Amino acid sequence: MSRNNQHWDPQSYKEHACFVPTFGASLIEWLNPKPKEHILDLGCGDGILTEKIISLDCTAVGIDNSLEFVRAACSRGINARLMNGADLQFNEEFDAVFSNAALHWMRESDSVAKGVWNALVPNGRFVGEFGGKGNIQTIVMALYEVLEEYSVNAHSLNPWYFPSVEEYQNVLESVGFEITRIIQFERPTVLTTGIQQWIKVFAQCFISALPKSDQIACINTIQSRLYPLLYKNNQWVADYVRLRFEARKI
Ligand code: BEZ
Repeated sequence: MSRNNQHWDPQSYKEHACFVPTFGASLIEWLNPKPKEHILDLGCGDGILTEKIISLDCTAVGIDNSLEFVRAACSRGINARLMNGADLQFNEEFDAVFSNAALHWMRESDSVAKGVWNALVPNGRFVGEFGGKGNIQTIVMALYEVLEEYSVNAHSLNPWYFPSVEEYQNVLESVGFEITRIIQFERPTVLTTGIQQWIKVFAQCFISALPKSDQIACINTIQSRLYPLLYKNNQWVADYVRLRFEARKI
């Protein structure tokens, strides 16, 4: 799924996930946009990074699978459209496709890669960063463990795609991309508003499988399980792992 049927509250996202575009700014260095290039921002969210790309004298289109995010991006003056990342409808229109912290919501990675390939002009580039193998593993394990205690099979609810470098390299190469560079790195991430808010913003699909009456207790239990593992020096630090790549349409 690519954030399918997910309802995002841009205000709450801004409050509890403001680190997402902050970290994403360094990915724009990898994109290295040239003046007048036309760029697709795949999973543009509220459009903060799309706006940065436009400020570098480029034109850009943002797509997202959340209507709330598309509206938020449009309100910044961005040409944003509601579209599923696995069903991109572009044909040789973009010099580059950029994607920050969105591809891990798109489990149909082959269809996404094919759509990106079609969207690019020959020699166009695809630059992205998302959760790699082992991303937020401690949180995922706690979600599985605690939900199981409520008789919910959380494995079947998992919306995320965190491939290894090798797996993702294969996805890109199998549609014809040539990998320019690809790395995986740990990026411990401070959750300034805490783990409960993170769960409410990002892991709602697990929690909403429970009756309303159990949801608060479940989140409290997850927090207690994670406390010895992720609470360090008076702050919550999530075990993010990033997979970052640049690939070219040859
Ligand atoms: C991430 O950026 O790695 C991420 C964020 C929310 C849920 C899952 C992964």
